[in-house]
Amino acid sequence: MKLPITYYFVLGMVLLCYSCSKDAPEFTSDGTPYEIALPDGFPTMPIPLDNQLTYERIELGRKLFYDKRLSRDSSVSCASCHLVEKGMADNNITGVGIDDLVGVRNVPTLSNIGYHPYLFREGGNPTLEAQVFGPIDSPVEMGFSVREAVDRLKTQPDYERMAQETYGRSFDEFVLSRAIASFERILVSGDAPYDEWSRGDTAAMTPAAKRGMVLFFDEFNCNSCHQGFDFTNYEVLNNGSHVTYDDPGLMNLSLNPMDRGKFKILTLRNVEVTGPYMHDGSYSSLSDVIDNYSAGGSGHANQDARIAPFAISTQEKADLIEFLHALTDPVFLNNPEYKE
Ligand code: HEC
Ligand code: HEC
Repeated sequence: MKLPITYYFVLGMVLLCYSCSKDAPEFTSDGTPYEIALPDGFPTMPIPLDNQLTYERIELGRKLFYDKRLSRDSSVSCASCHLVEKGMADNNITGVGIDDLVGVRNVPTLSNIGYHPYLFREGGNPTLEAQVFGPIDSPVEMGFSVREAVDRLKTQPDYERMAQETYGRSFDEFVLSRAIASFERILVSGDAPYDEWSRGDTAAMTPAAKRGMVLFFDEFNCNSCHQGFDFTNYEVLNNGSHVTYDDPGLMNLSLNPMDRGKFKILTLRNVEVTGPYMHDGSYSSLSDVIDNYSAGGSGHANQDARIAPFAISTQEKADLIEFLHALTDPVFLNNPEYKE
């Protein structure tokens, strides 16, 4: 069963309005403040005033992230699709949810997700707090409703206790969404060999990765889009990955045909373990991705002007891939704080 993408958008908007109509109470928690240990060179992460991080909130969020009871038949949790060892993504072409139903989009990594100015691949969802409701209500992901999920969990004494301790109220949508968002904000990736190299450990990257880095930054202009500490400036654009786009991308929001096929520039952190690639998982390898870029993209009418053909030798391609592999962060992929 496949649902039109617009379904998710309309659903998101309905939920969003629903969540804003609730009065946000003042932040009253005597929890233990949590400060994210940001890697050198990472900017401060914006954290909403009404959802400051505490250890207790993160713990509640982690518990919820792994709780399959958030899905109708208690078979799927957030972590069923967002796996730590896969960079908080998975290796399916598109997401596989309840009853093995297959969605239309590839599961993105949640590495550094707390920095994203908007969520989802066309950027239509404004906050991590609002995003939480999307997968619970999606018929092809968790197949439930937020109301029923809350009704189910609030009868559990541990959730009721933790809700009181973290947000000073009974377990409800407010607590559910804010706790999960708090957990997601600690998913910071900045300890890859490339980062160690940036901090002065010249041996952290192999000679091939260093050659690939020069190609990435100076020769092939990849960093005109994949730039900064998170290898994305979060622009939403058409990178010429397809000749025709079944998924309208940003056109879902704007209804403007000029926005067809526009998607958020993806971070390249942990990209080695998050394949297959692009919004629909249609590229099975990094090699295929590079081939399309060197060909100058598909030439789609909406393709961004920064995509231009370039010549690349077999050796250079191997070097570029080696550089992308140097963005694999073993600390992130094995972080016990992210696990159940
Ligand atoms: C069935 C698989 C599946 C489940 C279960 C699931 N997700 Fe996702 N997640 C996806 C897919 C696919 C996308 C991309 C959707 C899109 O962009 O439209 C996504 C996107 C996201 C994003 C936005 C990422 C970005 O780059 O903008 C966040 C955050 C997220 N999920 C968190 C969660 C949380 C929290 C839960 C549990 C409440 C959850 N997911 C459950 C598959 C899943
Ligand atoms: C004009 C901006 C732009 C340029 C230049 C660009 N990219 Fe991308 N890149 C994107 C966008 C947008 C996406 C996401 C497209 C989608 O979701 O379908 C993407 C996706 C990717 C992905 C897939 C990531 C994933 O998790 O699915 C890889 C790998 C990648 N780019 C590598 C590169 C490399 C290597 C270069 C240089 C040769 C490059 N990009 C140049 C915009 C760009």
